[in-house]
Amino acid sequence: MTDYKELIAEAIYDESLGLSKDEIKGWIEIPGDESMGDYAFPCFRLAKVLRKAPPLIAADIAGRVSDAEAFAKVENVNAYVNFFIDRAFFAKELIKDINEAGESYGRSNVGQGRKVIVEYSSPNIAKPFHIGHIRSTVIGNAIYKLYDATGYDTFRINHLGDYGTQFGKMIVAYRKWGSEEELAKEPIKSLLGYYTKFHEEAEKHPELNDEARETFVKLEAGEPEELALWEKFRKLSLEEFNRVYGMLGIEFDSYNGESFYSDKMERFVDELKEKGLLVESQGAQIVDLEEYGLGAAMIKKSDGSTLYVTRDIAAAVYRKETYDFYKCIYVVASQQNLHFKQWKKVLELMGYEWQKDCIHVPFGLVSLSDGDDIKMMSTREGRVVFLEDVLNTAVEKTKEIMLEKEATGIDVDEVAKEVGIGAVIFQELSNNRIKDYVFSWDKVLNFDGETGPYVQYTHARASSVLRKAAAEGADLSKTENFDSKYLESDSAYTLAKLIYRVPTVVIEATDKYEPSILTRHLVDIAQAFNKFYHDEHILVDNEDEKYAKLALVKASKTVIANCLGLLGIKAPERM
Ligand code: ARG
Repeated sequence: MTDYKELIAEAIYDESLGLSKDEIKGWIEIPGDESMGDYAFPCFRLAKVLRKAPPLIAADIAGRVSDAEAFAKVENVNAYVNFFIDRAFFAKELIKDINEAGESYGRSNVGQGRKVIVEYSSPNIAKPFHIGHIRSTVIGNAIYKLYDATGYDTFRINHLGDYGTQFGKMIVAYRKWGSEEELAKEPIKSLLGYYTKFHEEAEKHPELNDEARETFVKLEAGEPEELALWEKFRKLSLEEFNRVYGMLGIEFDSYNGESFYSDKMERFVDELKEKGLLVESQGAQIVDLEEYGLGAAMIKKSDGSTLYVTRDIAAAVYRKETYDFYKCIYVVASQQNLHFKQWKKVLELMGYEWQKDCIHVPFGLVSLSDGDDIKMMSTREGRVVFLEDVLNTAVEKTKEIMLEKEATGIDVDEVAKEVGIGAVIFQELSNNRIKDYVFSWDKVLNFDGETGPYVQYTHARASSVLRKAAAEGADLSKTENFDSKYLESDSAYTLAKLIYRVPTVVIEATDKYEPSILTRHLVDIAQAFNKFYHDEHILVDNEDEKYAKLALVKASKTVIANCLGLLGIKAPERM
């Protein structure tokens, strides 16, 4: 595919200008007004070197480029050179590229040879995997996919919250009020029930707290009975999480969570001491970060047990030593901003210069709109919505919509899963991740809005056009070689231009850890496709025209499916 900026830079470049090609590229503008062309080059800044009036320079450049095949027209307007892309040439090249690249169109290798760790989801075992966790899970997965698509060597970590004093409480509660059968049936709901009960009882009988502390000490010391219970809780929880990951199509390379670091922390406590960073405060060991406006990071409690930040320090160093990452990305809610700032500061003070490559990617809160019929559970921490219930509800509701539309010839159950779950994922990735948002079924499942179902529907529409053409006897292999002069209309060109930008958009979304950049671009593509579909007759009698248009339909379908894939969403052929 022609690199238009490169082509322009080449035409303008001259040693005497004292400018590099990249500098020239940096000056190229994309005019807001299409009548000024697809690209524009302002010549003001060349006037000094060339000792010539800018309009004359512009005229000169225009003269030199005007016969390039890639441009239909190059003209100067005052100090500007305006470049108009040859639409037929552009469509021809673009579609050829997409036909060749297929599933890999949009991918690149800018990250080749660099290791990137993406840590996401990281729920706490024995606690509900609730709607708040969906954000880390879905955003993290999309970020992983973007890094993978841009050629980085990725590694996915689920940093399970599987350690800490709460497990002492859980064990005590289970022994007192739990049952084997109940636990096996609904592990997390049961564990959560015990935990809630523990807190109610502890209000009345505070000595329960001491019992829990002692139990945790036993667990840390590796007492077999406590260890066995903890392992059971972990295993059952993980099975439940994996069911949800399975629904979402999400996998990890490692589930090394907090407990994995339980025997790897002493080294850092010693190191902090040696480096004079540890001070005692009310019996606890802390790093004083007051002078940086970050309060205090508590490293060890007065009873000697370690804390969340201690485990994160150990985890970061372990990851650096084990994987020698180029970047280590933490997809964690913005509520933990302070924690991550403190932790980075401590690493910095310890002299770990690579802490700058550890990146906290925060996201905002999700809340529920009133009257939405999501099943809730009440816990000590408030109302909890289980992610699995949300996903199941999405599938059920989608199925209802599909049955209303009387979709025929479709495996309704299968497609309802792809669309329902896809809708929830898409919604998560639609807004700037840092924004808080309100979850609402009406928005998530709106087939006409800027939603997952809308984009999937557009993909199914493209598929259906191709199916119909084939059924009418069209030879779709002719879309490999077509006369692109039939793709010069505004709606075809707008669509083609959006498709052309996909690889760049993917890189931008990756660099900014912002999947919503791709999501929004995808909505633009879907809208442009639908405009093309409505404006133009595709299955016309003129064979050449028909195959040219079908080629664009096929390319659009490929690109929409690829982009959905990068977001972790399926692209059904029919819906
Ligand atoms: N388990 C934590 C929670 O659910 C998130 C862990 C985030 N990752 C980390 N390395 N601190 O709140």
